[in-house]
Amino acid sequence: MSETNKTEAVKVGAAAASDEREVLLRVEGLQKHFPIRKGVLQRQVGAVKAVDGIDFEVRKGETLGVVGESGCGKSTMGRVITRLQDPTGGTIHFEGKDITRLNTAGMRPLRRDIQMIFQDPYGSLNPRHTIGGIVSAPFRLQGVEPEGGVKKEVQRLLELVGLSPEHYNRYPHEFSGGQRQRIGIARALALKPKLVVADEPVSALDVSIQAQVVNLMDDLQQELGLTYVIIAHDLSVVRHVSDRIAVMYLGKIVELADRTSLYEAPMHPYTKALMSAVPVPDPKRRGAKSERILLRGDVPSPISPPSGCRFHTRCWKATEVCRTTEPPLAELRPGQRVACHHPENFEDQQPQDTVLLSVAKEAAELVPTEEAAEADGSEENPEASATDDKK
Ligand SMILES: Nc1ncnc2c1ncn2[C@@H]1O[C@H](COP(=O)(O)OP(=O)(O)OP(=O)(O)O)[C@@H](O)[C@H]1O
Ligand code: SF4
Ligand SMILES: [Mg+2]
Repeated sequence: MSETNKTEAVKVGAAAASDEREVLLRVEGLQKHFPIRKGVLQRQVGAVKAVDGIDFEVRKGETLGVVGESGCGKSTMGRVITRLQDPTGGTIHFEGKDITRLNTAGMRPLRRDIQMIFQDPYGSLNPRHTIGGIVSAPFRLQGVEPEGGVKKEVQRLLELVGLSPEHYNRYPHEFSGGQRQRIGIARALALKPKLVVADEPVSALDVSIQAQVVNLMDDLQQELGLTYVIIAHDLSVVRHVSDRIAVMYLGKIVELADRTSLYEAPMHPYTKALMSAVPVPDPKRRGAKSERILLRGDVPSPISPPSGCRFHTRCWKATEVCRTTEPPLAELRPGQRVACHHPENFEDQQPQDTVLLSVAKEAAELVPTEEAAEADGSEENPEASATDDKK
């Protein structure tokens, strides 16, 4: 069994067992609206509905991948569940405890348990501090004295993430993007967190380095029993490491399923479109007669999202009911929740509603796979490198 297949098998087993695992984080009806103010009186004239009512849970030891196009609220969701920003609605429970409204003092002990890894390995490390100073900061902030002293522990962490303990006195500018992200990971892991939320941890890195960093995170999870929420807008990044995947569109979760179901039988048209944008991984299948969907247009503004199903302005299956009625996120198959009136790979939920909206006819474009590959130059297959690189 190749290394890749081994990882696959472990992940499939983990996904199957995930339902029995204890819930670490539970999010219900979560909202984050940013007010828009105008005039001298700074009256509120509207709101950016960045996160607009989402429900999910994360179980101990699992990896939840969160994907969606730019601006759909992924980072905001990450910042709110780590309580770096306050939610404007809904609840967040961590280990059964309601942490939605905890103030800074109340959150302090939890800062150890919930850590965030950021997208930008350049901006997130203070250039004036040494690596030792950066990775030891969490110990100082929390007043924790590890066994054997801070320096020894930091050097152990540096080794854990594949850096040399001798890097202790060096500065961030002396490191490459991939190495800096390893430093960010070492800092996040310093206090043995229970939950790590990684916001696009590799999107600022070269494709060749991305796989190494993702694989490092995967190895650390096995070793340290970590729980991850990994945000990405590229499905290929989370595909191999996630047990379950949540697909976000305009502040909502539109599909949430275990990885295998999501890949083998996506139900939400938006999920299908996102997957369609991922080059076919198997070269043998490349010439096959599959078609790819190119989504037209941009994500609408979260200030005034479309009525009914928010995806109806870009969906090729949209009918009248989609325009008027918001579909609930319903568990159509065990472990697969979908918000759609006319799902793919499943029976129609509104079969009486058959007339396509005029926007639906122009919404998406079907292109033969080979043509799409030529058009976006995706002959090179980043997914293959994402797994081949596995040590
Ligand atoms: N502090 C803020 N004030 C006002 N609007 C904000 C703020 N932060 C984010 N937004 C808006 O909320 C929406 C969601 O942004 P967010 O950064 O969460 O999206 P994202 O899915 O992470 O996108 P990307 O893939 O580009 O990182 C966007 O329209 C953004 O402009
Ligand atoms: S079919 Fe309707 S409900 Fe389903 S995604 Fe398209 S617009 Fe939304
Ligand atoms: Mg973001």
